[in-house]
Amino acid sequence: MKLETERLILRPPSEEDAEAIAAVANDWRVARMTLVPHPYTPADALVWVERARTSWKTHRFGGFAVFTKCDGRFIGATGLRPTDLPEEASTGFWFSPAVWGRGYATEALLEVLRFGFGERGLVRIEAYHLAINPASGRVMEKAGMGHPRAVELPDRDDGHSVPGFVRHLSAGEWHALAT
Ligand SMILES: CC(C)(COP(=O)(O)OP(=O)(O)OC[C@H]1O[C@@H](n2cnc3c(N)ncnc32)[C@H](O)[C@@H]1OP(=O)(O)O)[C@@H](O)C(=O)NCCC(=O)NCCS
Repeated sequence: MKLETERLILRPPSEEDAEAIAAVANDWRVARMTLVPHPYTPADALVWVERARTSWKTHRFGGFAVFTKCDGRFIGATGLRPTDLPEEASTGFWFSPAVWGRGYATEALLEVLRFGFGERGLVRIEAYHLAINPASGRVMEKAGMGHPRAVELPDRDDGHSVPGFVRHLSAGEWHALAT
């Protein structure tokens, strides 16, 4: 399984990516906007690799490690996760601060949506972001994910909740955008 966009390669993560994944995910600028463990070690990356492998086997979708095509460098993570409802999935993403602002997150999300709707026949894909993270909401909006709805999201460690938003795109909306 390998997806290609103009500038990116997306493929399931594997063991040899663990150091590179941890180096990016352990950056607090990334971690504070996500629910990845912190500190994030190569052992945490291996947990994600294994979880992604299981998801790919079970659901035919899962996590993607993202690399720049020009130099093969690991730059971020995205993917699809099952929800409680069949034919629906949830997506998310994080990218190295070294490459922020170049449109990579949007390019990767558009490809994940194309894969989910176009190749896996999903009917709805949703995504969550923290209220303090408008850049993430903007990426979702640019990729066509609308209907922002305020929600409370679990906080990292202390069991409290923090304000956030959920957005979604339906297969019908995606087809309308894609044609
Ligand atoms: C959010 C994140 C994925 C964006 O990645 P990226 O590759 O820089 O995204 P893109 O370049 O495709 O698009 C970013 C958009 O957000 C906008 N943006 C950046 N900072 C912003 C801010 N503070 N407020 C509003 N919009 C902002 C950019 O201007 C751009 O929109 P534009 O093209 O209309 O100008 C990246 O910053 C990241 O990994 N952050 C840490 C982890 C994270 O937040 N993950 C998402 C969890 S839900």
